[in-house]
Amino acid sequence: MEDSSSSSIPIAYQGLGAAAEERAIKSRRAKRFADGWEHPKPKPPNPIEDAIKSWFETLPAGLLESIGATVDELISTAPKRWIVYAPMALLPSGGFSHKTWTQLQSALSSIQADDLWTKILGAITKKEGKGLLTHLAINSGIPLHKIGDEDEIDEYLGLTPEGIMSEDPNQDNILRTPSGLITLHGDFGPSLSPDVIPSERDFKEAFWVSTKQNGITQIWAPRYTMFSRGNVKEKARLLEFHSSRFTPESRKRTKQELGHDAAVDLYAGIGYFVFSYVKVGMGKVLGWELNPWSVEGLRRGAQANGWSIRIVKSHDEWEMGTEDIVVFLEDNRKALERLKRLPPGELRSVKHVNCGLLPSSEGSWETAMEILPEEGWIHVHENVGHNDVGAKKRQIQEAFSTHLQKAGRTAEVIVEHVEFVKTFAPGVWHCVFDVYIRSGVVREPGS
Ligand SMILES: C[S@@+](CC[C@H](N)C(=O)[O-])C[C@H]1O[C@@H](n2cnc3c(N)ncnc32)[C@H](O)[C@@H]1O
Repeated sequence: MEDSSSSSIPIAYQGLGAAAEERAIKSRRAKRFADGWEHPKPKPPNPIEDAIKSWFETLPAGLLESIGATVDELISTAPKRWIVYAPMALLPSGGFSHKTWTQLQSALSSIQADDLWTKILGAITKKEGKGLLTHLAINSGIPLHKIGDEDEIDEYLGLTPEGIMSEDPNQDNILRTPSGLITLHGDFGPSLSPDVIPSERDFKEAFWVSTKQNGITQIWAPRYTMFSRGNVKEKARLLEFHSSRFTPESRKRTKQELGHDAAVDLYAGIGYFVFSYVKVGMGKVLGWELNPWSVEGLRRGAQANGWSIRIVKSHDEWEMGTEDIVVFLEDNRKALERLKRLPPGELRSVKHVNCGLLPSSEGSWETAMEILPEEGWIHVHENVGHNDVGAKKRQIQEAFSTHLQKAGRTAEVIVEHVEFVKTFAPGVWHCVFDVYIRSGVVREPGS
């Protein structure tokens, strides 16, 4: 068998033994640098590092020595990455939590600390070149449990630490409230408990950020709602569901046909999937969402994209109007009751139902089946161990077929596709199972 490790080593150094070969190459390289033949590739400047260096110049002499630290230590333990959700720059979970930094911070005045955050913001603003950034925060992730638990998922930066499954479903953080966004600079608005029902004034005083994915703007208040970048792939898939070059002929739908279709998102959030359905051209998109902060983000996002929207509160009466989007600020268990009150025929156009709750959306499956009248897709989001995807697919197929049979409906049920959206934890995937249902037909899967 060919030894691939030696194939990249110049012949002159081969046979010296791996370590000796490497040393010989390094020393030859060093000589070439010294002779001016070769120049090491310059490392691209890191704005956070630059900001720390220039800030350090302004600190009183001896401050670092007093805590027994050096500038190099400060730089090596500082975050290197960020993400911009304008006008905020967000640093990764655990940023500036190293002992060197916590010790230094307790020795700094608030003016000195703020000077550092301002310098970092200025440097990132310059590097990004997309407008002024005014707020800086450290991500603390979205705990899957309520505040007090140690396990967190860092969805903002796509990091997935271990140990995130909740054992007690009653303790789930179902509103996906980010407990503990660590704010460093800028006015993030009042910090209200998630149990407080926000007023119009609270919405006005809150701090809102935005981002664009697939040409669609999303808006949210980072104190109160999560944003998961990793769903971009699933959003894009929905945009092409009826039209990509891989779409089977039977599934293709013209713009005109889509204009008569409707979609329902039972966990609408700030509109990840709601907006994809509108953008694709569906005539009507209905959403259910419990978190008033997410609903307000969805309302603002819809407006920013130029779509009309109506928010219906839990006790409000509703009749189908002309809006592109209708969002019900209530539990999705009320969805069927609402839709049943529509004049006959209005429901017939529902072609997609989205069940987007993690770790499992099972609580909404029955509602989804009842909502889908004739033919269409239910998109079931689930967290699944990599080796359990096949079993989960069979379980979903079985559960849907059994429910429809019990309800006296003859229907074809096929889990057409499993989409691997993103890793949720080591070995655990956020999957979407596309369940295709066609009423009036019974066909065994695979036949
Ligand atoms: C994983 S997030 C979905 C993210 C969403 N796709 C978005 O655009 O933000 C789940 C959402 O479902 C909402 N939710 C959880 N249980 C619900 C229920 N029974 N009825 C309505 N919304 C619910 C939560 O408040 C949360 O915003």
